[in-house]
Amino acid sequence: MDKLTIRGGVPLRGEISISGAKNAALPILAATLLTDKPVLIGNLPHLHDITTTMELLGLMGSDLMLDERMMIEVNNHNLTRLHAPHELVKTMRASILVLGPLVSRYGRAQVSLPGGCSIGSRPVDLHLQGLAAMGADITVHDGYIEARAKRLHGAYINFDTVTVTGTENLMMAATLAQGVTVIENAALEPEVADLASCLNSMGANICGAGSGRIEIEGVDELGGASYDILPDRIETGTYLVAAAITGGRVKLKNTDPSLLEAVLEKLVEAGARIDCDETSISLAMESGARLRAVDIATAPFPDFPTDMQAQFTAMNCIAEGRAVITENIFNNRFMHVTELQKMGANLTLSGNQVEVRGVEQLTGSTITARDLRASACLILAGLVAQGETLVEQVYHIDRGYETIEEKLMQLGASIRRLP
Ligand code: UD1
Repeated sequence: MDKLTIRGGVPLRGEISISGAKNAALPILAATLLTDKPVLIGNLPHLHDITTTMELLGLMGSDLMLDERMMIEVNNHNLTRLHAPHELVKTMRASILVLGPLVSRYGRAQVSLPGGCSIGSRPVDLHLQGLAAMGADITVHDGYIEARAKRLHGAYINFDTVTVTGTENLMMAATLAQGVTVIENAALEPEVADLASCLNSMGANICGAGSGRIEIEGVDELGGASYDILPDRIETGTYLVAAAITGGRVKLKNTDPSLLEAVLEKLVEAGARIDCDETSISLAMESGARLRAVDIATAPFPDFPTDMQAQFTAMNCIAEGRAVITENIFNNRFMHVTELQKMGANLTLSGNQVEVRGVEQLTGSTITARDLRASACLILAGLVAQGETLVEQVYHIDRGYETIEEKLMQLGASIRRLP
């Protein structure tokens, strides 16, 4: 199993390009199931989760053509199997995103229950309740969700918890339903709005995506489209933290500062200088200046994202002062804490909070990545630690960061992948 070895202490410098957003690409690939016309998707990130989704579509009978610039053409004119098997769903929960499109277009679907997950229990009850409100008959047996409907109908759905993939699943299902669907307390995440733009370019009639109230008027069919995925705000934020934590100076291109204002504010509070234009963000640390500790409380967009919590925990480990990190979205999303402690960090975990008291220096160690964002956090810690850090089980990182060691090397980091 791949490992990364990192020699810490090099301030990152230079420019890199940000990839397309994983969390927009996954629902947009699922959305292609809503039409039998070809859909062209550009700015697709080269990630393991994308390969898994392509494998899933391929199993169902999709024709997929990928060019060398990661532009994919998906053609679902000949779908034969409306089934998402456990072997794939267990490696990627977002596979649940095929449920809404399949039942909406084909009137039936069988999708494995995602089950347990390393960042706490992540149920899909809200997805299922919403589809049931739209007229789907849903049963669960032998670990599989079976959904059937002659044709879904519009419904009024008011989520009691904000759910990103739940909003996306129901929004996709509603595009081909009979009548109007209203989703209240919808997720505001930019990836939801990106999916809606893609669906509208396929002929859907969606208003309000990106706000808390989305209205979808069902249409009889969707057509083909060509759509470019928005930049990955979490990849962007992760490289900004990498620059800040190493006392460096970087410019990130092909991104969008408006997607991560809460993260940029916290970086400024920590002492970084940020300069933005429409498509790039530069971060510089004053030479010799030490980062200041910053409190973080995760919440749905536009507040501080849970997917940046682990990276900011790493940053606080070497900052001056004390910070409290509060995780409000997922339980059990602090698996990086014990690994950071092995590197000399001073962390105290209590319920959904971690108290971080900054230390002058972390020390390289052998540590294990246990989920995607925790892996990013441990790499960041390795970049600033004294000596060599070995990050084991690094396959998680390939689910969500395109060629991370190449991009970090481009910024001057001393990092190498070992078999
Ligand atoms: C998505 C993102 C993930 C991010 C998360 C929160 C994708 C592919 N993944 O995950 O990177 O960390 O949003 O921003 O976009 N919940 C329920 N019942 C449900 C659904 C969710 O109780 O049916 C709860 C969850 O347990 C969690 C909260 O709602 O506590 C938010 O989860 P949700 O927004 O659904 O996360 P995902 O869509 O899985």
